[in-house]
Amino acid sequence: MNHDLVEKNIGLMMVLIVVAISFGALVEIVPLFFQAETTEPVEGLKPLNAQQLEGRDIYIREGCNVCHSQMIRPLRAETERYGHYSVAGESVYEHPFLWGSKRTGPDLARVGGRYSDDWHKLHLYNPRDVVPESNMPSFPWLWENKIDSEITGKRMAALRMVGVPYTDEDIAGAAAKTKDLLEIDALVAYLQQLGTVIKHRR
Ligand code: HEC
Repeated sequence: MNHDLVEKNIGLMMVLIVVAISFGALVEIVPLFFQAETTEPVEGLKPLNAQQLEGRDIYIREGCNVCHSQMIRPLRAETERYGHYSVAGESVYEHPFLWGSKRTGPDLARVGGRYSDDWHKLHLYNPRDVVPESNMPSFPWLWENKIDSEITGKRMAALRMVGVPYTDEDIAGAAAKTKDLLEIDALVAYLQQLGTVIKHRR
């Protein structure tokens, strides 16, 4: 009898469908907020230091994340090429996360330490100087602009509000660390730490 009611009343049916679907979604999603595997940092994970944090901001400003993912999937072809697959605990201090979904260029989740600082600088100045077939854009202006060091501490304070464990000393000392820092040096500092907490590559 009740079923008749639902089948003849499309409004009621819509409401019940929404309830059923939301329940399914909640059952899948909510436990993730409480699982240590997704909420606890991996061993040895530290918040980005002042230079790396500013570098990350430039990475976002320049849209590097539009062409580069930072998410190695647990598939043989990926781990052979990029190293150990990404785990959630590596991203707990990431706000916003930069996993991405589009790979015009290679994944960068573990690019840290793979090339020298000089290689990155040559590459970012003009990718074709080191990779002749590259279609990555050049970023020569990163050598012209300096980081606004007054903001670095404020960035850290804001991130602390969402759970990144910066200390009062980190925040107080931030401006001194990024004073006169060129954008290119901040960006390279950021790139060189990517994925280095999990050491083994294969
Ligand atoms: C329009 C797409 C595009 C954008 C935007 C872009 N890249 Fe790339 N990137 C590529 C492509 C394609 C390659 C592969 C060819 C090469 O190495 O230059 C690449 C390669 C790289 C590599 C070498 C990776 C490896 O494992 O060999 C690094 C590092 C890199 N990009 C960093 C950056 C950074 C940092 C930015 C932002 C400042 C950026 N890219 C922006 C397309 C892009």
